[in-house]
Amino acid sequence: MTVRRSVVLGCGSYLPNRVLTNAELAGKVDTSDEWIVQRTGIHERRIAAPGETTGSMATQAARSALAHAHIDAQAIDLIVLATSTPDNTFPATAVAVQADLGITHGAAFDVQAVCSGFVYALATADALLKTGAFSRALVIGSETFSRLLDWTDRATCVLFGDGAGAVVLEAQELPGKREDRGVLTVRLRSDGRHKSKLYVDGGPSSTGTVGHLRMEGREVFRHAVAMITDVVDDAFKATGMTVADIDWFVPHQANKRIIDGSAHKLGIPPNKIVVTVDRHGNTSAASIPLALADAVADRRIKRGDLLLLEAMGGGFTWAAALLRW
Ligand code: UT7
Repeated sequence: MTVRRSVVLGCGSYLPNRVLTNAELAGKVDTSDEWIVQRTGIHERRIAAPGETTGSMATQAARSALAHAHIDAQAIDLIVLATSTPDNTFPATAVAVQADLGITHGAAFDVQAVCSGFVYALATADALLKTGAFSRALVIGSETFSRLLDWTDRATCVLFGDGAGAVVLEAQELPGKREDRGVLTVRLRSDGRHKSKLYVDGGPSSTGTVGHLRMEGREVFRHAVAMITDVVDDAFKATGMTVADIDWFVPHQANKRIIDGSAHKLGIPPNKIVVTVDRHGNTSAASIPLALADAVADRRIKRGDLLLLEAMGGGFTWAAALLRW
């Protein structure tokens, strides 16, 4: 008996040209390159240009993923876009991408789970592909957090950056073995009791404004490693796999100390971790697909490799996936 699986055909990314360094930030708020590097591992981040949006960056990342997958946009019948910084309150940014790609069939919608958004979008697309209702999906993470930041708040404005990443998934009938390519499991978690620890202080139904990002950084940090390792253990239990089976750990890129702490607790050696937070900062839902595209472009991640993805963020939401490339 075969199993319907969502197999990655290709991936792509887009980063704005503008690089914002720690030194430049130190000229705007009371911070230093030394503090930012030591506490977060971030050296620089990208900032979207005026006129560049979550949607326009998502379209660029999607085009790059389609080219990498060697398929035409018309072969896509599902677009799931993870973002907390949509172009408009509605419609979904995914439909702007759909229109830009010239697709008029199938379905396109957004998913909002903040930094866990890409893994939530992956789970959503995987579940829909498995129903048989869709054949090929674009799963995109795209963010312009620079437009949500309070640029006078040194505790948050140094942490985030802009960018987009995308993968193309195709439903394939496979033997149902652990060697199968594709999404092998996705585990999603949330706990709304923590909703005020990382949030935006505006919104259409509360203030009628966009608002700014607010975070109790120490509180988020305190929960991060435990939540991440817990949901990763769930993913291992669901598949019977162990940390020894992993070729690459591709974590959400919030803070190098959270990444290293999680890897250490899970027993993953540093040479199996994909790190981009030093160059991208925290790009929220875009960070995992950006990291994937980075490690695929330089041929670290190869076909058949087993990847462990994880994320944790506002909500709190947290999630993990095992994916054979
Ligand atoms: O994507 C998921 C969501 N986000 C995260 O995962 C972020 C989670 N949190 C973190 O990564 C860390 O908590 C931070 C990087 C935000 C902060 O690191 P920390 O080691 O937890 O520092 P802290 O918040 O305990 O602050 C230590 C000190 C404070 O001064 P006092 O009170 O000790 O005098 C802050 O005011 O550092 C000060 N501080 C800064 N100093 C220089 C805070 N931000 C800055 C800054 N530059 N940019």
